[in-house]
Amino acid sequence: MGAPLAARYAAAQPVVKLNDPPPLDSKQEATRDKRMKWWHDARFGMFIHWGLYSVIGRHEWVMEREAIPVREYELIARQFKPKPNAAREWAKLAKAAGQKYMVMTTKHHEGFCLFDSKLTNYCAPKQGPGRDLVAEFVEAARAEGITPGFYYSLMDWHHPDGARCATDEAARRRFVDYIHGQIRELLTNYGKIGVLWYDVNWPLNWHGWESVKMNQMVFDLQPDIIVNDRNGLRGDFSTPEQRIVAETGGRAWESCMTLNDSWGYHANDDNWKSPKTVVRNLLTCAKDGGNYLLNIGPRGDGSIPEPTIDCLRAAGRWVNSHGPLVHDTDPGVKVTRSQFAQFTRKGNTLFVHSYYWPGSVLNLAGIPTKALSAKLYGSNVQLKIQQTDLQLKITGLPEKAPDPLISTVAIEFEAPPTQDTDNVRKTRERLSA
Ligand code: GLC
Repeated sequence: MGAPLAARYAAAQPVVKLNDPPPLDSKQEATRDKRMKWWHDARFGMFIHWGLYSVIGRHEWVMEREAIPVREYELIARQFKPKPNAAREWAKLAKAAGQKYMVMTTKHHEGFCLFDSKLTNYCAPKQGPGRDLVAEFVEAARAEGITPGFYYSLMDWHHPDGARCATDEAARRRFVDYIHGQIRELLTNYGKIGVLWYDVNWPLNWHGWESVKMNQMVFDLQPDIIVNDRNGLRGDFSTPEQRIVAETGGRAWESCMTLNDSWGYHANDDNWKSPKTVVRNLLTCAKDGGNYLLNIGPRGDGSIPEPTIDCLRAAGRWVNSHGPLVHDTDPGVKVTRSQFAQFTRKGNTLFVHSYYWPGSVLNLAGIPTKALSAKLYGSNVQLKIQQTDLQLKITGLPEKAPDPLISTVAIEFEAPPTQDTDNVRKTRERLSA
C-alpha cells in the first residue's frame, strides 16, 4: 500500500505542483481554432446517457447511491436487450431538435462498456445486447449528418482497481493502462469522432491518470478531435454542469444539462423542462458564445420517453426556423435589463427574444445608442420607434405573442447598442422629476 499516491507522486516529481495543470501541448493549442470551428457553429448538441442503469430506471448513480454490490449489479448486463438500431430514433430526434452533434456515454461510472473492448468482457457485444452499441450510435449519427462524440468516464465502479488505484501503485498502473487502452480502442475503431468528453477523474488527479500522455495519444489518433477539461487538464473547452455560466478570456465552454433531473433514465422523474425553457437556455448560451449540450436518457430498450420527444420536437421547430439567431451571433451583448426577454446581437442588430410577450408596446430602459429601425423577426413590417436616452419604446406590435415559444424583435442601431446599467439612481431621480 504505502503512502497515498498523490504524496508519492509529489515526492517523486517535486517540480510539478499537483494542483497546477499544465497547458495542452503547444501543437494542440496552435490547431485549436481550426479544430473547434464546427463545434462553435454547431452550438446545440444532444447528450445521451445510456447504460445498465437505464434498465433499472432509477438514475445513473443508482449503483453507488443504493450501494448495489458489483456482483449483483453485473447481472443486469445479461438483461440489457435493447431493440436493434435504437440510436437511429435518437439521431432523427436530434435532427428535428436542430442539434448538430451527439455525445453518447460509451462507458459511464458503472463501468459497463457499450463498445467492443478486448480489455474486458463487461461490454455490450459479450453481454445481453450481443452487439456493439457504439458502432450503431456512430452510424446513426452520421446517417443524419450529425457529428458523433464519445463520453467516457474515467471513474469506474466495476473495475477491481477503480478505487484502490488511489493507494496502490500496482493497481494504478493496471487501471491507467486499462483506461488508456479503452480510449485507444474508441478512437481507433469508429472512424472520425468529433468530441472526446471525459468525465469524473476520481480518485486520481491529472498526474495519476497520466492525462498529458492520454491527450497526446488522443490527438495522435484523431488530430481533428476536441477534448473537454474533465481529465484534469484544461482541454479545449470547459463544462459548466446544470448551469449556464460563460467563460472569460475567450475560452470555449459548453453548458451540459438534463431535461428533467436525471441524466440516466428515471422512470418516475417527471420534472421536465418546457420547450420554451430549452430555447431560452440555448439563447442564453448563444448570447455569450457558448454551446448547449442537452441530455436525453433513453430507456433500457433504447426507446425515448415521450415527454423528451415532445419537448425536443417543439423546441426544434423554433431552432430550425430561427437558424441564424442561434448559430450566428456576436458575443459581448451590452443590453441585459429585462424581465421578459433574453438578448443576442449580430453586428449593430439587437435581437430581443421575448419569452413573456409584453403586448403591443415593448419598452427597454436606458439605451443611448440610436435605434434606426425595428421589425418582428421574419417580417418586413416596420415598427414605430420613439427613443430618449432613458427609454426606447417600440409600438405597433401584436397584442398576442406571434410565436407561442419565443417571439423575437430585431432592432437595428447605428452601432452595437449599449445600455446604461450604472446610473439607476440618477435615472430614478430624473424619472421622478
Ligand atoms: C456528473 C455525473 C454524471 C453525469 C455528468 C454529466 O459528472 O456524475 O452522472 O454523467 O455529470 O455532466
